Amino acid sequence: MTLAPTDALMTQLVDAARAARERAYAPYSGFAVGAALLDEQGRIHAGCNVENAAYPQSQCAEASAIAHLVLAGGSRILAAVVVGEAGGPDRPPVTPCGGCRQRLREFAADDMPVWAADLQTVRARFTLGVLLPASFGPGHLAP
Ligand code: THU
Repeated sequence: MTLAPTDALMTQLVDAARAARERAYAPYSGFAVGAALLDEQGRIHAGCNVENAAYPQSQCAEASAIAHLVLAGGSRILAAVVVGEAGGPDRPPVTPCGGCRQRLREFAADDMPVWAADLQTVRARFTLGVLLPASFGPGHLAP
């Protein structure tokens, strides 16, 4: 039986991503981001962005969370939440950057929920397939 990302689990992911965001190291952009992922065992793995004085070496919150999931022995991502402060209701919600959409794709299916939240609310609900249509993935390299 496949684990379903229930509303209760999604709420836990939102909480975990908000807590991770508090740990962000973002002295250059001042833009703190948190991410949380649900793995195939029902576990939650979180991450924050970690910037660097050599700017391109900075790491996104999603990449940090993926590293934690893999280190813990996880192999699939069943749901993802990203938390960032968009800077006002007229600004678009903070969604995963293009590179992180591809990083998520490595371990996730097209129907995986990806929620974009801020500190108050869930601003938008997507699936990975909507954020990254017609994507390239591990299947393309299968023998
Ligand atoms: N950032 C993330 O952590 N995840 C995203 O998907 C969008 C951007 C971070 C990178 C950088 O530290 C800061 O937000 C500003 O771009």
